[in-house]
Amino acid sequence: MGIVETFGHGGDLLTAAQRFGVPPGDFLDYSANINPLGMPVSVKEILLASLSAVVRYPDPGHRSFRKALSLSLGIAEEWLLPANGAAEAMALAILGLQPQTVGVVYPCFSEYAQLSKQFGSSVIGCYGQEENGYKPDRGELYTLFDQADLVFVGSPNNPTGILYQPEELLQMARWTDETDTWLIVDEAFLDFVEEKRQFTLASQLEQFPRVILMRSMTKMYAIPGLRLGYAIAHPDVIRRMSQKQVSWSVNSLALLAGELCLQETEYENRTRTLVANERAYLSEIIGQELGWKVWPGEANFLLLRSPENLTAEQLQARLGRKRVLIRSCAMYPGLTDRDVRIAVRSREENERLIAALREVNAEGSGQL
Ligand SMILES: Cc1ncc(COP(=O)(O)O)c(C=O)c1O
Repeated sequence: MGIVETFGHGGDLLTAAQRFGVPPGDFLDYSANINPLGMPVSVKEILLASLSAVVRYPDPGHRSFRKALSLSLGIAEEWLLPANGAAEAMALAILGLQPQTVGVVYPCFSEYAQLSKQFGSSVIGCYGQEENGYKPDRGELYTLFDQADLVFVGSPNNPTGILYQPEELLQMARWTDETDTWLIVDEAFLDFVEEKRQFTLASQLEQFPRVILMRSMTKMYAIPGLRLGYAIAHPDVIRRMSQKQVSWSVNSLALLAGELCLQETEYENRTRTLVANERAYLSEIIGQELGWKVWPGEANFLLLRSPENLTAEQLQARLGRKRVLIRSCAMYPGLTDRDVRIAVRSREENERLIAALREVNAEGSGQL
């Protein structure tokens, strides 16, 4: 566990505040990957205007949101399950499908293994190859499919930001048939990828009933505290997942906000442009000027390796005292104790981050 990642995740401002003696609201938070534009105005307005909705129960069938989602995606409603964040959707898949063995590709989002263990599955893994953007060797990935009942892959993967190509996704989808294995593709960050590179199996699920896609709405629309996500899968799978869902787990405000989020295409485009420009800017300065290793991620975050004289923990502590919070990746199986992840934020914020990184670079090695 890192010095700030007590719960295994970024964005823990309370722990960071205790650790660095800085009020939680004062951090520039690069440790969680949330849209720097904040909530869309329409979403903020509906939330403020709809507080009275919480005196009633939310619709346990999520009907209005599910219908809007179906129209927006062009996918029939029975293929969709709204959930309390993509995290709940993953839990429901494990509960509904009861895999004995779950396979993961390290390094990856820690909840894949965490949830699997929580619900009684054993976890096996293969390691991505550093020289290949931490994608796995094809043969090892096949072995994982062969040995596991369910395999998680992230595309783009967290914390590397690397995307699987269409032919790689298709290959995995074919293996689900051949090896009788479920495949969950976690597309939580796919919204941030350039539109023409948003590779997904969404339109091929009829052909691949063992493939489940997980989507998050908390990152693109900056509502991680409200919680909203969904799964796309064959109706039989959706039914199995739905049977395990606690009634009303998706709250009324999330359902209302979700409908408006689906209409925010201009905001999504603006976000993608900002993220693409700022990701290039951060990569250029941190990679070229500071000389750090930067992986070519395609999402709204970047995986970095600090210079040899600085561990992720030291870097996090030094930046933390400067009120900048980053994510140590030292605890990700498959990464090293010098790996960190930063979010991609606005130019003004990125300049503050870079100024802090330059100071740390200049300070060189030494005590925490
Ligand atoms: C790769 C990945 N998938 C899913 C999630 C969870 O998303 P949500 O907030 O929708 O539960 C996260 C959260 O950090 C994540 O990093």
